[in-house]
Amino acid sequence: MSVQSILLTAAFAIAFSTAAQAENKDSASVSQKELKAKTDYCKTCHGVSGQGFRGAFPMPRLAGQQPEYLKNQLSAFIERRRTNPVMFNVAHVLSPPMLTALTTYFRDLDPKPLGGAPRELVAAGKKIYEEGVPKAEVPPCASCHGPDAKGADAFPRLAGQLHDYIFRKLTNWDKERGQDKANPDNSAIMGPIAHNLTEAQIKAVAAYLSYLD
Ligand code: HEC
Ligand code: HEC
Repeated sequence: MSVQSILLTAAFAIAFSTAAQAENKDSASVSQKELKAKTDYCKTCHGVSGQGFRGAFPMPRLAGQQPEYLKNQLSAFIERRRTNPVMFNVAHVLSPPMLTALTTYFRDLDPKPLGGAPRELVAAGKKIYEEGVPKAEVPPCASCHGPDAKGADAFPRLAGQLHDYIFRKLTNWDKERGQDKANPDNSAIMGPIAHNLTEAQIKAVAAYLSYLD
């Protein structure tokens, strides 16, 4: 696929999902007490400030994440378009108002990144982030995820994300995301990009992102 057609597909898919999201209810019917009980639970895995956590495997950072992206992923776990047994169990009991309240809550957290990636990869990673890999038809990450990697709407924030989580996601993209072929989602936009990056390039860009505030 050419860069242009990837971008066009992206614009179309995003416009589509935004319309679908507009139906969601507000968070009026969730009490502070219920919300706190739920967020305390999320933090047992995702870190006390939603900054992510390294256990047996990396738990992603949720802090500062775009609400629309968070909502899309929680729906994807529930509908098994994104396969993860742990998060299926967590997400399928959430009411729509709770889901909205959680996404607003995590958006507003702003802890320091956990870091921990090899520093010597950062410069190469920054170049990939800003310029893409033209020879491999990989567009600049910044063109969708933003110049400071904060994301927007359905494009996720990547700044401060755990490098080992990013590595695992980009090396397994097609096995975990977009699993309901009859109901394609925004994950299709990232498929060719994840596929066309080498493991060394993924490690570099993940290292760069993991240190961004
Ligand atoms: C028992 C541990 C556990 C708990 C509790 C938990 N999560 Fe998760 N969560 C995970 C793991 C593991 C992943 C990574 C899945 C993967 O690798 O694809 C994840 C992924 C996610 C993602 C996708 C993030 C991304 O960047 O794509 C979201 C959103 C999420 N969790 C939200 C929540 C919320 C909200 C709660 C509380 C209601 C919660 N999680 C509770 C373990 C947990
Ligand atoms: C054409 C737009 C576009 C470009 C260019 C792009 N992305 Fe993405 N990316 C997306 C979208 C949209 C998603 C959300 C997919 C979903 O909802 O399933 C995403 C998701 C991701 C995720 C998953 C985040 C998470 O929390 O699990 C990672 C990691 C990622 N992109 C890294 C990159 C990197 C690295 C580059 C550059 C090499 C890049 N992206 C270029 C659109 C893009």
